Amino acid sequence: MSNGVILVTGGSGFIGSHLCEKLVALGFETVNLDNFCDNYDPAVKENNISSLLNNPHYHLYRGDIRDHRILDRIFADHSISMIIHLAALAGVRQSLANPRDYVAVDVEGTVNLLEYAAKRQVKRFLFGSSSSVYGDNPVPFKESDRLERPLSPYAAAKISGELFCRTYHRIYGLPVVCLRFFTVYGPRQRPEMAIHHFAKLIDAGLEVPLFGEGNSERDYTYIGDILQGIIAAMEVPCSFEVFNLGNSKTTTLMELVTLLGETMGKQPRLKIMPVQPGDVPRTWADLSRSNRVLGYRPRVDLKEGIKRFVEWYWSQKGK
Ligand SMILES: NC(=O)c1ccc[n+]([C@@H]2O[C@H](COP(=O)([O-])OP(=O)(O)OC[C@H]3O[C@@H](n4cnc5c(N)ncnc54)[C@H](O)[C@@H]3O)[C@@H](O)[C@H]2O)c1
Repeated sequence: MSNGVILVTGGSGFIGSHLCEKLVALGFETVNLDNFCDNYDPAVKENNISSLLNNPHYHLYRGDIRDHRILDRIFADHSISMIIHLAALAGVRQSLANPRDYVAVDVEGTVNLLEYAAKRQVKRFLFGSSSSVYGDNPVPFKESDRLERPLSPYAAAKISGELFCRTYHRIYGLPVVCLRFFTVYGPRQRPEMAIHHFAKLIDAGLEVPLFGEGNSERDYTYIGDILQGIIAAMEVPCSFEVFNLGNSKTTTLMELVTLLGETMGKQPRLKIMPVQPGDVPRTWADLSRSNRVLGYRPRVDLKEGIKRFVEWYWSQKGK
């Protein structure tokens, strides 16, 4: 593994804050560039990074991935050897309401970072992509699938991000790994995502909206398994690579809410709703490539992962 400094973008968010903790624990000098935007409560992001602030191997820069001044400063202050690019506006439904913002952050922001990576001889660029790129392709989703069926501006922006990664690899020989994450959950999950949002509704005795009549299926992946995949991707021999990081087991929304209610010891009140625009009917990762090449094997099943999430949820309540 390289000795230089790792730049994590979006390191104050759900996945990024866990990743920064892991990198620092593994002995990496780690820089977090995050603008603490208000797509959800910035206080949550401040809380996510609180354990790292006094660590001498962790360096926080508050700013935007599109801002040249802050990136110039980071590259002047540190010898960046790898960029793990997680900063984004994430979320399918909000992208239908604000598509231009998604293009500005998820596409333009990615291109800006690729420019720095290529021109400053960064040794590797890891891009946090999404299972959304597959749209409503037939399952299970394979990395070699054609990406012609996006169902939201978010999905289109992630496909564009991957396309720019490939282009920068071809022009400049930049080594790139695109990691397609499948519905990640666990402690610190974004508050508007299904499991976290539903936990709050169940806890408050409010109705849980089951869009798609509860029949939509997702491949839920525990945060610890995603970290395992990212760490493996930092080391794998690479030119331009794409890997699915999922759990390879699909669960219906109805099954998910039932399990969540049982784990919380509360009976969910269900409200059956039609399919929402932008939502794909199912996701399911084919993991044969990431298994073979990365040695990636998800270890935490949904029952155990939900138990850990609920423990975290109760521990946070009222804080
Ligand atoms: N959580 C999932 O299930 C999931 C699934 C697939 C892909 N992803 C991708 O993984 C990455 C991380 O997702 P997450 O769930 O941790 O989201 P998150 O919103 O918790 O984290 C993203 C972080 O990026 C920061 N950010 C946003 N715009 C920025 C900008 N212009 N400049 C600097 N920082 C900016 C935000 O403040 C936030 O802290 C995203 O790229 C997302 O698209 C997540």
